[in-house]
Amino acid sequence: MATVEHLSPLWDAFRKELAEVSTDEALTDLRDKYLSRSRGAVTVELKKLGQLSAEERPQAGKLLNELKLLVEQALAEKAGEIREKQKSARYQAERVDVTLPGYAYHTAGRHPIRRALEEMERIFVSMGFSIMSGPEVEVDYYNFEALNMPKGHPARDAQDTLYVTDNLVLRTHTSPVQIRTMEKQKPPVRIIAPGRVFRRDSVDATHSPMFHQIEGLVVDEGITLADLKGTIEMFLKAFFSEDTRIRLRPSYFPFVEPGAEVDVSCIFCRGTGCSICKQSGWIEIMGAGMVNPRVFQILGYDYEKYTGFAWGMGVDRIVMLKYQVEDLRLLFDNDIRFLSQF
Ligand code: DAH
Repeated sequence: MATVEHLSPLWDAFRKELAEVSTDEALTDLRDKYLSRSRGAVTVELKKLGQLSAEERPQAGKLLNELKLLVEQALAEKAGEIREKQKSARYQAERVDVTLPGYAYHTAGRHPIRRALEEMERIFVSMGFSIMSGPEVEVDYYNFEALNMPKGHPARDAQDTLYVTDNLVLRTHTSPVQIRTMEKQKPPVRIIAPGRVFRRDSVDATHSPMFHQIEGLVVDEGITLADLKGTIEMFLKAFFSEDTRIRLRPSYFPFVEPGAEVDVSCIFCRGTGCSICKQSGWIEIMGAGMVNPRVFQILGYDYEKYTGFAWGMGVDRIVMLKYQVEDLRLLFDNDIRFLSQF
């Protein structure tokens, strides 16, 4: 008989079980236990209504329906609670502390060599030079032959050449761009040619199989050694500082005559002597000279009419001096801790 006395234990039992429920699965099980069509405890009671007399039935039916409603409401409430709990658990797990410092992103900057090259180009362009380039894989003729270094010339050995084929080399200097320029252009010529060059060298603090040079070439009527000296001096004063001095020491390169090595006054000790300049006060930075008439002759320039000067400057060396980098390898390692200082 569905009376309040009969049903309240069922309700109490349900409430007790409900209190224990904390997962969706347990809640579904509980719903089945009380409301499933075939064997739910409440459903079973409802089915029993048919056995009651006509007088008893409405009262009992009302009670049972109320109970069913209460159970459904309680289940729905519980479902809501479980959902809330899951949500806050997720929020907790995915919590982000917006007050924590963020990750620092490294922004790309220009490599010190790139920066120095751009500065050098800017200075030379302001002096009226134009910029030329040539291939890094070069034909023997341009790298050697036309620069007055025929096959078997001893100066070829000094270059530690990396050969691609018998006739192709990785250019050992930027000087072949002189030839390529003079082939295309009649005097007056006033160019620089920055770029990579390659030699068979082992890597250490001052050597690398790949490094950079800036070639320079000026050809016109009446060009003298004084123009060479003045141009180089003007450039170095602009690049380093106004009190920079230079000196030329006689040297030999087959494509210039006379040839020289150019030193700058040490930019660390200002020429008084320190460990960088090995106490000499001077640092060697380039080879230079007056274009050998033999080269003009090879190219078909009128060597009676024209004279010229040329230089080949070591860029990496200058970058090391300018930024006080003591090991050449730092320039090529691509270590962000080094690069981010520029
Ligand atoms: N090409 C030479 C080298 O790499 C450097 C050089 C010397 C270039 C004298 C020149 C020059 O233009 O006139 O060793």
